[in-house]
Order: sequence, then C-alpha cells, then structure tokens
Amino acid sequence: MDISIIGSGYVGLVTGACFADVGHNVICVDNDEAKVKALQAGRIPIYEPGLEQIIHRNVTAHRLRFSSSIREGVDNSQIVFIAVPTPPQPNGEVDLSFIEKVSREIADVLTDYRVIVDKSTVPVKTGERVTETIKRYNRRGAKFDVVSNPEFLREGCAIHDLMHPDRIVIGSQSQHAVDLMKKVYEPFMAPILVTDINSAELIKHAANSFLALKISYINAISAICQVSGADVEKVADGIGMDRRIGRQFLNAGIGYGGSCFPKDVAAFIHISDQLGVPFTLLQEVQRINGLQKERFLKLIRDTLWVLREKRIAVWGLTFKPDTDDVRSSVAVELVDAMLREGAHVSVYDPKGMEKGRELKAVADAKFEKSPLEAVKGAEALVIATEWPEFANIDFAEVKKQMTTPIVFDGRNLLNPETMGELGFHYHSIGRASVIPR
Ligand code: UDX
Repeated sequence: MDISIIGSGYVGLVTGACFADVGHNVICVDNDEAKVKALQAGRIPIYEPGLEQIIHRNVTAHRLRFSSSIREGVDNSQIVFIAVPTPPQPNGEVDLSFIEKVSREIADVLTDYRVIVDKSTVPVKTGERVTETIKRYNRRGAKFDVVSNPEFLREGCAIHDLMHPDRIVIGSQSQHAVDLMKKVYEPFMAPILVTDINSAELIKHAANSFLALKISYINAISAICQVSGADVEKVADGIGMDRRIGRQFLNAGIGYGGSCFPKDVAAFIHISDQLGVPFTLLQEVQRINGLQKERFLKLIRDTLWVLREKRIAVWGLTFKPDTDDVRSSVAVELVDAMLREGAHVSVYDPKGMEKGRELKAVADAKFEKSPLEAVKGAEALVIATEWPEFANIDFAEVKKQMTTPIVFDGRNLLNPETMGELGFHYHSIGRASVIPR
C-alpha cells in the first residue's frame, strides 16, 4: 500500500518505519524542516530501541522517505495517517489545533479519494469534526473517508508493540475504508476490531485511563502495606495471578508519568465533564498519583530530617526505562522538589541526560557521567527510574562512595534483604524499610 503519515513524532515515526518494514511504501511528513533534513540525512531525533536500524533498512530499500510537503504525501498515497501532537491545556482539555490545521491542509491538496486516518489520541467526536473540516475546505468536492485508528504503543518497546499488537481498532462508517485498512494491517496478523468512529476514539481514552487506574490502585494499596507491614509486591503477585486481574501494570512506585497517562486521564475527565457525565473515579486516580510522589518525598524528609545542604544522588530522570523521554516525568518532579528545599542534587540517567539538561526544573542539579560519580559524597541515593542497569551496579562500591548509605528506592528495583546485608538503610514503596543495627 502507499501510505503517508503526517507528523514524525514518536507515534508517526515508529508507525511509518514499521509499515515500511512490512512492505508498504511510506512517506513520513513533518512541517519541521530541520527534523526532515536530519531524518533524510539518517539522524533519528528520538531514542527508541531498534528504530534507527528499521529506518535505515527501509530508507535503503526505498520503502521509506521523508518530506515536509503534505501535498507530496497526499498525492502519493491511498491512505493518509494523521499523527500530530494533541497536547494538554492547563484545564485538561486537549488542544486540537494541530489536527484542525492538518485537516485543512489535507483538504487543500485533496483531489482524489483518500482514506484519512486519525492516529493521534483525540476526544470522542473528533472524527466528526475532521470530516466537517475537510468537507468545508475542499473546494473540489473530492471524496474521502475518515477513520479512527488509535495507537497503543508504549515508549521503550514501541517497535514490539507495533509489530505484535494485542488488537487493532478500526473505527469507520465506510466498508471500503475498512477493507483498505485491513490490507494495511494484514501483515501484522493481529486481531482486528471494527467499530464506529466514536467508539474507536473512546477506546483509546478508556484503555489508557484503565491502565492509569490500575497503577493508582496498587499505589493506594502500597500506602496500606506501608502502615500495616504487608509487602505490596506480594500483594500484587497474589492479585495479579487471578487472570481476570493480571499482574501487568500493578507495579507500585512514585506514580505514573510520561506524555500519555497524565494527559489522557486529564482529558477524559474533561471530556466526561463536558458531556455532562463527570467521571469522578478518574479524579481519584489522578489524586492518588500525585499523593504517591508526596508520600515518597515525605519518607525522604522524615528520614533525612532536613534536606537543605544535603547531598542527594538521583538515578533516573526519564519517566520510565528504555527511553530518553523526560516529559511529565515524576523523577524530574522529585529532583525539582528537592532542589527547591535546598538540597544539592546530582543526577545520572543512561539516556535522559541530554533532554534533562534542557529542563529548567532540574537546571540546578549536577549532571554526572556515571551512577558511581553521582553517589560520591552523597548522603542519600534516590532511585527514580527502574533502569535495569541500576540493579546490576556493585552496591558495595556505591556504599564506599556515599557519606551515609541511605537508599530510597522509588521503583522497588532492589532486594531489601540484600541491601540490608550490605549495610544500607533501605526504603522502598509499600515494603518494610530495612534499617541495619
Ligand atoms: C502508555 C500506554 O501503555 C500505551 O498503550 C499508550 O499508547 C501510551 O501510553 P507509555 O506512556 O509509553 O505508554 O508507557 P507505560 O509503559 O504505559 O508507562 C507509563 C507510566 O506508568 C510510566 O511512568 C511508568 O513508570 C508507570 N507505570 C507503569 C507504573 O508506575 N507502574 C506500572 O505497573 C506500569
């Protein structure tokens, strides 16, 4: 199939690369000329495991190219995917101005029948607006169908998620558009669910909010574990073994972050309010998420007494491992809070240093070259992102480097017993603290 993808962010780029890899001809379009030039020169603007190789392989095979012209994309494809940002506004409402602009631009160059597919996460009923807009601005009266095809990939394992999806959701009123979309996804051999457009749009917000709810649920349980002497990891295993519940997304921690969950939960709350059916359960999900970070900060304060002038090392800046993304990262919020309280914070992250340095919130932190450099002279170590390499560090050496061996593990990455045996004061989430005599 000939496909164009408007927007070369995480979703657009990964989708374009994977579509090309299964044999489609893909043009990735972006209005950022510098980004397009970089991509044409083989430089990939984001870190995502495996992405660079796939892009290079398919560019070489002439199945993937980059352009800054929507006209070039629309002219040369049967299917036009929209994958532009839908950022949040302060009140939680989604900013749909990029979707609206791209819809107008597509309308402007549309001459023959195309399937216009929305991949960006959008509020229910956006497809109707896209349809209206294209109709209004397309003076030639060209035929088109609008489809909603939400994306469920996770950063860090985006290629795997795209290549092996649990399901593909196709929302459309047109059988012809559905048939074309099925051809696009045929090579992925995944279950396909065909719905109307509104349901497909709602599925995305409902799925992400449910996953966020699962995390807040286990985080609320972790608070109960902390005061009752139970172990949240055991509780998560015990409930997760019930196949109706499942163990995934039951990892207690410092709360969910990233560019999706916080935004999508806020958006869904706003959408339901607007529709006159307030989704109050999600307000609680959001509140618990914020509380989890506050509780962790309180644990640090209660242990260290005063943060002012204390040297604190933080491992992790990204919102989760295997990404360089520091957007809405709870790790960043923690560093910011400790800096505000006057602590001297040194940070290390395997992939997030470059993007971290651009953030005002952590500008006063010291960026160190390695985890061991970061803990030199530190009175406490905070683990804020569960990078697997942190678990494999020689903690005897870490202890030697620290002034006082106190660890706050915000991701339950380490084993409390082992840390106790090594002589650390070890605090984690929803598990008993280990204080050696
Ligand atoms: C999420 C959805 O998983 C994906 O389907 C959707 O398309 C985009 O949003 P992503 O934000 O990339 O993906 O990462 P995800 O792995 O879902 O993690 C989100 C946040 O939740 C991270 O901050 C992570 O640390 C946190 N999390 C996740 C937990 O705290 N506990 C868990 O058990 C799982």
